[in-house]
Amino acid sequence: MKIGNIEIPEFPLLLAPMEDITDRSFRQLCKEFGADILYTEFVASEALIRNIEKSFQKLNIEDTERPVGIQIYGHRIDAMVEAAKIAEQYKPDLIDINFGCPVKKIAMRGAGAGMLRDVPTMIKMTKAVVDAVKIPVTVKTRLGWDSESLIIDQIAQELQDTGISALTIHGRTRAQLYRGTSDWSLIKKIKENPQINIPIIGNGDINDGKSAKNAFENFNVDGIMIGRAAIGKPWIFKEIKHFLKTGKIMPEPSISEKVETAKNHFKKSLAIKDGKKGFYEMRRHFALYFKNLPDFKSLRLKLLTSTDENEIIDILNTIREQYKDL
Ligand SMILES: Cc1cc2nc3c(=O)[nH]c(=O)nc-3n(C[C@H](O)[C@H](O)[C@H](O)COP(=O)(O)O)c2cc1C
Repeated sequence: MKIGNIEIPEFPLLLAPMEDITDRSFRQLCKEFGADILYTEFVASEALIRNIEKSFQKLNIEDTERPVGIQIYGHRIDAMVEAAKIAEQYKPDLIDINFGCPVKKIAMRGAGAGMLRDVPTMIKMTKAVVDAVKIPVTVKTRLGWDSESLIIDQIAQELQDTGISALTIHGRTRAQLYRGTSDWSLIKKIKENPQINIPIIGNGDINDGKSAKNAFENFNVDGIMIGRAAIGKPWIFKEIKHFLKTGKIMPEPSISEKVETAKNHFKKSLAIKDGKKGFYEMRRHFALYFKNLPDFKSLRLKLLTSTDENEIIDILNTIREQYKDL
């Protein structure tokens, strides 16, 4: 499979863009565990054109991450074109446009999933971004605004005609937010449309080898994007690849392997974040790395409140010792 001129292996697994989650530290870990394409967290076009330093930090990528895309969002075409050009200077392999974010303050302003209520602007914006940069542009969106307006099969071809190189579809509407389950039947319908020839990436609720195999075999997608199931479990990419190859479930990593992964992640996070941000952002990951440990309450509390690097490393070593026989 190819996205633009980028060669992608068979049955590709993509790491979903996730705000405050898919920073460089997490992306690199997912890459080490086999993710085929990575995306940054979304970056606001308005922040880039206003020179907001915090947003520029999100554009930094490393060669070890390739292929990697920078995702941008916004409601104004001019700002998105400018932002795409700024992002391109940071040398990603792709630019992704977010037409799927359901968050009120974004969608109600017409950005993210809000664009599903203004298809003419969505198409004009996509075309303008495609024309503004030399690298491939991809789009990520949802099935429609709500169950009354499942427009994805009508807009897929229009989006393709703008010159985008792939389309990722999250099988929910904006109204669903993250509730209910993803409906992959419309994704399949688009794959079966003979007019569609760009890669279609399916997204929503893939959380193990079995669900990934089902997506490839029964919904015919060209790739799968994985979000929440990778948080606290970056080895999911390896686990799914193992299942696709052998039909067998990969044994869960040992506690010592999990501690090593968490330490590696934590060190990378501190290295790239200013002040206490690296500590704060690791908390959600730590909680999930060690989510099912018995009698874990007091260690968990310490792990999720400390802002002392040595103390956290000590807690991680204690977890390894205390649960080594699990
Ligand atoms: C914490 C969090 C942050 C997210 N941030 C983004 C984002 O920045 N851009 C985006 O396109 N989607 C974002 N999403 C949506 C995911 O990319 C993905 O579409 C969604 O979680 C469904 O996939 P999943 O079931 O594999 O998690 C976010 C989701 C979560 C849970």
